[in-house]
Amino acid sequence: MSLINRKVLTLDEFTIQQLRNFPKATGELSSLLRDIGLAAKRVNVEVNKAGLVDILGDAGSINVQGEDVKKLDIFANNQFTGVLQHGISCAGIASEELDDFVAFDDDVSKNSKYICLYDPLDGSGNIDVNISIGTIFSVYRRVSEIGTIATAADFLQPGVKQVAAGYIIYGSSTMLVYATRRGVNGFTLDPSIGEFCLSHPNIQCPEFGKIYSVNHGNFFQYAQGVQDYIQTCQRKNKTNGGPYTQRYIGSMVADVHRNLLKGGIFMYPPTTDKPNGKLRLLYECNPFAFIAEVAGGKATNGQQRILDVVPTELHQRSGFFVGSKGMMEELEAHMK
Ligand code: AHG
Ligand code: MN
Ligand code: MN
Repeated sequence: MSLINRKVLTLDEFTIQQLRNFPKATGELSSLLRDIGLAAKRVNVEVNKAGLVDILGDAGSINVQGEDVKKLDIFANNQFTGVLQHGISCAGIASEELDDFVAFDDDVSKNSKYICLYDPLDGSGNIDVNISIGTIFSVYRRVSEIGTIATAADFLQPGVKQVAAGYIIYGSSTMLVYATRRGVNGFTLDPSIGEFCLSHPNIQCPEFGKIYSVNHGNFFQYAQGVQDYIQTCQRKNKTNGGPYTQRYIGSMVADVHRNLLKGGIFMYPPTTDKPNGKLRLLYECNPFAFIAEVAGGKATNGQQRILDVVPTELHQRSGFFVGSKGMMEELEAHMK
């Protein structure tokens, strides 16, 4: 009997349908994505009432990066860590909000094959002003032996080894977008049933776009090649159809999401103040680089493909350039 044609696929239905194509698949990745979806829904509820309850404002501590920690950062970190610890497919996690990785030491976790890294709340400086924020996550198959406790080597894999990566955007609607090697798909939260529903199947990043996203305040701190490229974006130019439009909200999730759908380029270059860049390689750059590449785009650190960088530290920073393939190539020509 042919499958009954369903109009709307939920995230769970979609991942289970994907499983049907892989007779050998164990369903662990589907279960991990379901856990992430659950944590996302819980965070969404808190984000939505951020103005109503006393959850706004600083938690009064400084995280491992020396930044103020907002209460919602901690809440989100606890939700994602909690569901993954209690789930059946994750051997350990690393988070922007935790100094070191956490290897779960119960028997089920030790026998799980994935590890997960995340920025539980990205753009947290925007919480207090009702601007879109997000969560970013990255999933790897562990390299340590199944049945043992996860190790640092599981977390320090180059981005090219990602099995899946994604983000949640808590915006005018809440969306979960994730990529596997087979494609990028977007799901919008339907609050009436509390489910993420497939709304953006097979996302492809247009080869060219008209948007460039960068913090212009740092312009004079960027390398000459970056400054030159930005000025190209601002000029009328027959080959690139410029001038482009500048859009930068300060939540990378929102900025990159828009550019992924509409075509564009997002840049967080190294500056003289932050010579290694600001964004974190493992849970900010790598997931977006993976998503962009699967969608047909490109991502580099200015010198090298992001996904090829072999990390040495959990919280290492990186310059980051990501977006439409044609625009990235234009940038690269200026940076040579
Ligand atoms: P986080 O809230 O996790 O610390 O990350 C914020 C990041 C990123 O989302 C954004 O693009 C960038 O910081 C903005 O930095 P600037 O204000 O320096 O432009
Ligand atoms: Mn972030
Ligand atoms: Mn964060």
